[in-house]
Amino acid sequence: MHLEVNHLYKQFTTRRGSLVALKDINLHVEQGEFVCVVGASGSGKSTLLRLVAGLETPTAGEILVDGIPVTGPGSDRGMVFQRYTLYPWMTVAENVGFGLKLQRASKIERRQLTSYYLEVVGLAEFAKAFPKELSGGMKQRVAIARALASQPKILLMDEPFGALDVQTKEAMQQFMLELWQRTGTTILTITHDVSEAVFLAQRVYVLSARPGQVREEVFVDLPVDRNYHVKRTDRFRNYEIEIVDLLRAQTQVAA
Ligand SMILES: Nc1ncnc2c1ncn2[C@@H]1O[C@H](COP(=O)(O)OP(=O)(O)O)[C@@H](O)[C@H]1O
Ligand SMILES: [Mg+2]
Repeated sequence: MHLEVNHLYKQFTTRRGSLVALKDINLHVEQGEFVCVVGASGSGKSTLLRLVAGLETPTAGEILVDGIPVTGPGSDRGMVFQRYTLYPWMTVAENVGFGLKLQRASKIERRQLTSYYLEVVGLAEFAKAFPKELSGGMKQRVAIARALASQPKILLMDEPFGALDVQTKEAMQQFMLELWQRTGTTILTITHDVSEAVFLAQRVYVLSARPGQVREEVFVDLPVDRNYHVKRTDRFRNYEIEIVDLLRAQTQVAA
């Protein structure tokens, strides 16, 4: 798996004129990598992820998955959004198997993959529950299981823990890191949370404020099997400071 974004531009036409949301974005994600893009609100993060997901079309530039240009949504890219996007009338298991149904997977395959990924996210006992019976963190784990069940080449996440309280968010970050180590999934996550980016990623792309441009690529050289204790170390804090300073410098330029 190899994701490549080359000279990507996105311009929106609004009633008040045109708006450049993304300018000359270049980035890549390699097989098995966990990469984060961090940027202030309005820097075009969601736009970038929607472009990679094929939900928007670029104004210029290209997006390649294993060398093949993205022209629309596809099961090779799994998506997790900030807001819970579960179907309230379906059980947890039905939600997880939904994408597989669309892909016309057989009933047996659907059942196997659904139970496997419910196991992966630690929700096997909740297969028959409905979304309203779950906490926010659990709902997001269902959304992650649903995205993984279609066995995408890459998992795309847009501020996946942004709607959660601080404790749940920390638990979910740890959970995500362990899931990544266990499954070897290739992940691209977008966040405005610097600490989250440093904690999760092996590489962080720092976006400037509007128009979003990649200002820096930061290699996070922390142990792969990090846990939340690492957040109290100097090395962790130094990465946070580096990225916060980069974001701040960019905000001042734009202001
Ligand atoms: N469909 C759209 N039409 C017009 N403007 C849009 C559209 N989607 C996003 N934008 C604008 O593009 C900019 C980047 O938005 P977004 O990608 O949501 O940023 P972020 O996720 O970093 O907060 C914002 O100024 C937003 O208003
Ligand atoms: Mg966004």
